[in-house]
Amino acid sequence: MYENAVDADLAAIAALMNRAYRGTGWTSEGDLIAGDRTTAAFLREEMVERPEGQLLKWVAPGDATPLGCVWLEPTGDGGWYLGSFAADPDRQQAGLGRTMLAAAEQWVRARGGTRVRMTVIHLRAELIAWYERRGYRRTGAIEPFPYDNHRLGTPRRDDLAFVVLEKALATDMH
Ligand SMILES: CC(C)(COP(=O)(O)OP(=O)(O)OC[C@H]1O[C@@H](n2cnc3c(N)ncnc32)[C@H](O)[C@@H]1OP(=O)(O)O)[C@@H](O)C(=O)NCCC(=O)NCCS
Repeated sequence: MYENAVDADLAAIAALMNRAYRGTGWTSEGDLIAGDRTTAAFLREEMVERPEGQLLKWVAPGDATPLGCVWLEPTGDGGWYLGSFAADPDRQQAGLGRTMLAAAEQWVRARGGTRVRMTVIHLRAELIAWYERRGYRRTGAIEPFPYDNHRLGTPRRDDLAFVVLEKALATDMH
């Protein structure tokens, strides 16, 4: 289940994100970007700079250790941005990511959200396909990679960009 992440969780969440995004699994982007994906300090800054957003950790009952994480932030008009989504690499391929994504959508729906939007590096075709199997669609929009800011690490190539994916959430019938 999701719980709000607190300051004491940030080091473990940053470590988990770095292993998930820059490790060796099939969704690693280490071949595209060098260095860490984030740090506890960057996560803390983001929480201060974007107070409407919420960093959530996925935990097992009775255990505070984060097994996954997600950032959810309202963008207006029923839309929510989903980012920093990661499942512990040691527990991937067992349905954790699928369960966490559905729970994130439920979390958004419970707050009146009707759409979830995310960005994925355009070259990560298998990951885009994973989201498409979960109902996400390319909007056609492309967002630039932040080459002037190394917060996401050091890019290994000069042609990175993000595709924007979006899913309309099914609404309750009652
Ligand atoms: C994306 C991520 C959350 C999935 O987590 P997970 O716990 O492995 O997810 P699941 O167990 O639910 O699903 C595993 C999927 O991987 C697919 N998969 C496994 N190996 C694969 C490979 N080599 N190539 C393509 N797909 C593969 C499986 O087919 C399965 O998809 P399906 O259920 O649609 O058939 C996880 O890999 C992750 O944290 N990645 C790093 C961070 C990241 O990229 N986040 C998203 C940024 S936008």
